Amino acid sequence: MKSSLLFSPLFLLILLVTPFYKVIAQKKSLDQKVDSVLRLMTLDEKIGQMNQYNGDWAATGPITKDGDKQEQIKKGMLGSMLNVTGTDHTRTLQQLAMQSRMKIPLLFGQDIVHGYRTIFPIPLAEAASWDLAAIELSARVAATEGAAAGIHWTFAPMVDIARDPRWGRVMEGAGEDTYLGSLIAAARVKGFQGKGLGNTDAMMACAKHFAAYGAAVAGRDYNSVDMSNRQLLETYLPPFEAAAKAGAATFMNSFNDLNGVPASGNAYLQRTILKGQWGFKGFVVSDWGSIGEMINHGFVKDNYEAAMAAANAGSDMDMESRSYIQNLAKLVKEGKVKMAVIDDAVKRILRKKFEMGLFDDPFRFCNEAREKEQFNNPDHIKVAREVAKKSIVLLKNEKQLLPLSKGVKNIALIGPFVKAKSDNLGFWSYDWPDDTARIVSLWEGVKSKLAAGSNVLYAKGCEIKDTSRAGFSGAVAAAMQADVVVMTVGEARDMTGEAKSRSIIRLPGVQEDLVKAIVATGKPVVVLMSAGRPLVFNWIADNVPAIVYTWWLGTQAGNAIADVLFGDYNPSAKLPISFPRTEGQIPIYYNYYNTGRPAKNDSDLNYVSSYIDLPNSPKYPFGFGLSYSSFGYSDIVLSKPVIKSTEKLVVKCTVTNTGNYDGEETVQLYTRDLVGSVVRPVKELKGFKKIQLKKGASTTVEFTLTANDLRFYNEKLQYIFEPGDFKVFVGGSSASVKEAGFKLVK
Ligand code: BGC
Repeated sequence: MKSSLLFSPLFLLILLVTPFYKVIAQKKSLDQKVDSVLRLMTLDEKIGQMNQYNGDWAATGPITKDGDKQEQIKKGMLGSMLNVTGTDHTRTLQQLAMQSRMKIPLLFGQDIVHGYRTIFPIPLAEAASWDLAAIELSARVAATEGAAAGIHWTFAPMVDIARDPRWGRVMEGAGEDTYLGSLIAAARVKGFQGKGLGNTDAMMACAKHFAAYGAAVAGRDYNSVDMSNRQLLETYLPPFEAAAKAGAATFMNSFNDLNGVPASGNAYLQRTILKGQWGFKGFVVSDWGSIGEMINHGFVKDNYEAAMAAANAGSDMDMESRSYIQNLAKLVKEGKVKMAVIDDAVKRILRKKFEMGLFDDPFRFCNEAREKEQFNNPDHIKVAREVAKKSIVLLKNEKQLLPLSKGVKNIALIGPFVKAKSDNLGFWSYDWPDDTARIVSLWEGVKSKLAAGSNVLYAKGCEIKDTSRAGFSGAVAAAMQADVVVMTVGEARDMTGEAKSRSIIRLPGVQEDLVKAIVATGKPVVVLMSAGRPLVFNWIADNVPAIVYTWWLGTQAGNAIADVLFGDYNPSAKLPISFPRTEGQIPIYYNYYNTGRPAKNDSDLNYVSSYIDLPNSPKYPFGFGLSYSSFGYSDIVLSKPVIKSTEKLVVKCTVTNTGNYDGEETVQLYTRDLVGSVVRPVKELKGFKKIQLKKGASTTVEFTLTANDLRFYNEKLQYIFEPGDFKVFVGGSSASVKEAGFKLVK
C-alpha cells in the first residue's frame, strides 16, 4: 500500500468505521490486558491458574485431599473450582481469591447438563425433538439460572457421538448421527453462551469429552477407544468442530485412550487439531483426575510424568488430579515443560476470565436479587414443558388407541413411575428441598386433564428394581376396573449416566412381567417407557398396542406426558439413535457400510453378513417416530439428473398429512455415494426440515445439495468429494424413504 494512502484521512476514516478493524483492536487490547497480568505473575501463581479443585461436595470421582483449599485460594494456587454454587458460597470463595497477591478471580464450574433449577429432558431426549431452537432455548434457560447462582461455566454440551446404548453416558449427548449431533452441539453452545461472554446471564460452554469417548469398547465407561483417523475425523470430531465454531469457550478432554494415547496426553487431538487446525482460542480442562489416571493407563510412571505429558499435549487446566500443582514448577525448572507452554495455558485461562468480565468485577455473578428472581422463574417452567412435549417419541399406536379421551370414565395408572418424582429428572440433575412439590408426576399430570367424573385408579405393581411380585394382584385388580390402562415402566434415575454402563439393557426387576400380567387382562394398555437410553423390550413392543418413549423429561414430565396422552400435543419426536433388538446387535447405527456380502433383507442368511438368530435391522430405526396423524411422501423430484461440482441440486418432495389430526413431521434427507475411493455408508443424513401440516394439507419440501455436502475423508485423510453416482432419499425415518439418483461430474 502506498504510504500516501496509508496516512490519508480517508484511510483513517475507513479504519475507524470498519468492524474488522474494531475486532482486531479489541482483540489486541484483550491480549495486552492478559499480557499485563501475566507479566506480573510468578511461576507458582501461573501454575495455580492451571489448577482446579472440587468444592466440598457432589464429587463424581475420587477426591484427592491435599491441604486446605481455602488457604490455597488465598495463596493464588487455584484458578477454578467446580461444584460450588449459590451467590453466597461463590462470593465467600471469591473474597478469598481477592486476598491473594494477584487478586485473580476464580472461575466456578458446574455440570449444568440439562438444567439447573428447572430440569429439562435429558440431552438425548431433547435431541429427539430435532428442534434446534427448542434445544438452544433449553440451554439458554439453564444458563440463566446457573449464572444467576454464581456459576460461570457449565461442563456441557457433551457432544460425543454414541452408537452403543450400553454406555451409560449415551443420555448426555445427541445420539448416533454426526450431522444432527453437530447442529445440536452448536445450538447448545449458543444457548449456554447467549449473547456472549460478559453478559451476566451467559455461562461459558465446555464441549466434551475430547475425543471419541462415546466409542468406548463394549460400551463400558472409561474404556479404551481404538479407531482409524478417518473414522475419527468423519464421525466423531465434527460435533466438536461445530462447537468450536459456535464459539465454545472451553473444551474438556476425556478419560479414554485413543489408539493408545490417553486423551489428556494427546497432542494430536489438543494441539494439532483443536488449537492448530481449528484455531481454538479457549482453554482445555482435563476430565476429573484424568491427568493422574494416565498412570493407570500405563502411559506415564507417576504424577510428575503425567503433568509433563498433559501440559505438553495442551491440557491447560488440571481438574482434581493435583499433578500440575505438585509437579509443574519442577518440570519447568528442569526444562521438561517450557515456560512458553505454561504461559500459553495461563493466557488462555486469563483471557476467558477477562471475557467474563471478572477482572472488572469478580462478584458480578453474585447478585442475590437476580439469583432469587431466576430461582423460580415461571417462564422457565413453561419452556421446560414445551421442550419435554417435543422430546416424547410415539413408537406404536395400534388402532389409534391414543390419544385418550379426557372424558374417560375409568382409567388405571399402573407402574413404579406413576407417582415418581426425582426419577423423572434423570442423571446429571440437582435435587432441591422442594422437589416433591415442584416436579410434576404422571399422576398429577393425568389428573389435571381429566373431567370431574373420571375415576383414576392407581397401583404401583412393583418397585423399579425389586423382584417381588406381591403388588401384581392389586395392579391386575385395578386394571380390571378400568376402561384403559396407562403403565409406566423403565430405569431408575441412577441406571443411565456416568459409570452406569449396563451389559443388559432391559427393564430391571419384574417390570416386564407386570406388563404381561396387565396385558393378560385384555384391557387396552398404553406403555410409557421412562429411561435414559434405548432399552430392549421386545415383548412389550410386539404385544402392547400403544408405546410412548418418555425418556427422562425433567421437572415438567407429568404435564408433558399428559399433554401427549390426551392429544393436547400431537407427538412429533424422532429417535436420534437406533434401538436394537438385542444387546448382541450393538453397536448398531443406520449409516453402516454395505459390506461385500450384504443381506438382501432381514431373512437372508445365505452366507451374507447377518445373524442366524436375528434380523440385522434395529427394532426402531434412527429417525423413526409416529404422530397421531400420518404423512404421505410423493416421489422425489430433482432439479436435474446431473450436476457439476459448482452447481446446486434441488431435491423436492411433497408431503401430505393423510391422517385425522393437524401435526408436525420431520422430513429427513439422506444421500449415498455409490462408489467411493473408500467405501461409503448406505445412508448419511444431510438435512432435515420440520413442517407443520393441517390434516389433509400438502406442502412441497425443498432441500439443496452441493458437492460440499458430499465430501468425505479419503484414504489420505483429504476432505474431498468424488464425481460419480449418488442416491438421494427423503422420508420420515432412515428406514422409510423415497429415493432417486443423480450424477456428480467435475
Ligand atoms: C465427568 C465430566 C464432568 C466432571 C465434573 C467427570 O467425571 O466425566 O463429564 O464434567 O466429572 O463433574
